[in-house]
Amino acid sequence: MATDYEQLRREITWERAERELGYREGEPLNIAEICVDRHVEAGLGDRLALVHEGHGGEIRQFTFRDLQQLTNGWAHFLRGDVCIRPLDRVCLFLDKVPELYIGFLGVLKTGAVVEPLFSAFGDDALVARMADSRAAAIITQRRHLGKVRKARERLPDLKTIIVVDHDEDGKKLREGEADYHMMDHREDHFPVAATYAESPSVLHYTSGTTGAPKGAMHVHGSIVAQYLTSKVVLDIREHDVYWCTADPGWVTGTSYGIIGPWSLGATQVVLDAGFSSDRWYETIEKHAVTVWYTAPTAIRMLMKDGVEPVKRRNLTSLRHMCSVGEPLNPEAVRWGHEAFGLWFHDTFWQTETGSIVVTNLPGMPVKPGSMGRPFPALSATVVEPKTGIPITDVGRVGLIAVKPPWPSLMRTYWNNTATFYGKFLNGWYICGDQASLDAEGYFWFCGRDDDVINTAGHLVGPFEIESALLEHPAVAESAAIGKPDPLNMEVVKAFVALRPGFTASEDLELDIMNFVRKKLSPLAMPQEIEFVEKVPKTRSGKILRRVLKARELGQPIGDVSTMEDD
Ligand code: PRX
Repeated sequence: MATDYEQLRREITWERAERELGYREGEPLNIAEICVDRHVEAGLGDRLALVHEGHGGEIRQFTFRDLQQLTNGWAHFLRGDVCIRPLDRVCLFLDKVPELYIGFLGVLKTGAVVEPLFSAFGDDALVARMADSRAAAIITQRRHLGKVRKARERLPDLKTIIVVDHDEDGKKLREGEADYHMMDHREDHFPVAATYAESPSVLHYTSGTTGAPKGAMHVHGSIVAQYLTSKVVLDIREHDVYWCTADPGWVTGTSYGIIGPWSLGATQVVLDAGFSSDRWYETIEKHAVTVWYTAPTAIRMLMKDGVEPVKRRNLTSLRHMCSVGEPLNPEAVRWGHEAFGLWFHDTFWQTETGSIVVTNLPGMPVKPGSMGRPFPALSATVVEPKTGIPITDVGRVGLIAVKPPWPSLMRTYWNNTATFYGKFLNGWYICGDQASLDAEGYFWFCGRDDDVINTAGHLVGPFEIESALLEHPAVAESAAIGKPDPLNMEVVKAFVALRPGFTASEDLELDIMNFVRKKLSPLAMPQEIEFVEKVPKTRSGKILRRVLKARELGQPIGDVSTMEDD
């Protein structure tokens, strides 16, 4: 590959990706057809697509032909038995089991929209997302059925709950619930829905500062960007064994844990087990992983155990390593080099961008601490926050901005067009993150431009946490901020004013923490609660999180002229 960046900008284009995918404008395009059926038709049906390792080390393998037959069976069931129609929203609420990957692709074959939901979400988090999308069906496992049933009471549009695992505990299904044991149903043929580049495909909810989570709507044409970035940035080649550690409940796990790598016909490893550094190294060694995509929190956790466990393993299969989701500390990059003899290549992007927009490219010098440069097929820069005018001064902080359109940019926020249009300024898509550029055009990340909390690479909206807190009988007022944390980058800290009759105590703190964990998720659970007399607000009642954050960090509080009087 050419290593001159300017040359790459000339060579790497979306049109080239379309040609490589055999796509011509106006013709039908379906993500699942490209990721699965195309490979079987090309004679690659026997190639391993998925190597799945469960908690106990049990391994299940699926070829592209297996994926084809299983997604066909599933799509037939959805269309014929569940009466799923094109554009219906179908939710996935599954652990990282093979059914999640097959389920995702089968939904797309029917022309319906797939809505992945993180399997650790509580019932309030489920309801917020499924009520907004008015989902018609949800596919889940028996272990999550209790949560889904509870959520269903508040979801009038939900017609069917589909349960994919065998009944071991004798739990009987009720009306509106269907058993479908995916692995038992195979079909050679399924007439894939005639979707086009602009047909809706994946709906991923993401957290903002205000209001409920927003659904970023993607289209089948996004595959052009996910294919090209997987090839050029992740450096995935046909015979690679690729491991993306992200859960498909989040966008990394779909764009680069399903679509991108399978569009290239690579073999994917999935480990459905909790984190342990030794288990992770064992996974790389056992499956001879060649390309690895992970996240800074995980890298920091690996660093804690030192280089020695790496050296005990034979990890020479590794050729390329990338990271996403949070700032990648320079120490982590240097440690990676010492441990693996390779650089972690940082990649920056978002649920909304659908694919990597700024990155360190393979074969080019990595500057530890910098996110790299714009992906060569698009233009990205930093702009003035008020005007959207690109900043030309080296080192001056502005907002990260990407020039639309590109194939995987969300097409709207579902039900929320006004917020979608609010993301554009002076002809740029504004990511909502701050960065500066150096003299060679490398991006240096500074922080988010809003109050969204990034914990271990996952965004959590303060509004969602504050709303959950307010439902606790003891809570009168609440605010949530991200508190810096050496491992997770940030953890949730909550400020709570109690209702009369309640007294602050450690027991109450624990009770409130668990209350949020159950309603939302372990990620959203405050790690610390500070009991306060009142929460600082503007006179119009807006919570002044920045005041709380500044106090927490021991920084100047800034302009408080709009603050409510004490
Ligand atoms: O704040 C940035 C941070 O994660 C946000 C996007 O989160 P989400 O939509 O959940 O998607 C995560 C995976 C793509 C960004 O707005 N972020 C993402 N990558 C980086 C990052 N912050 C610093 N460095 C990165 N490489």
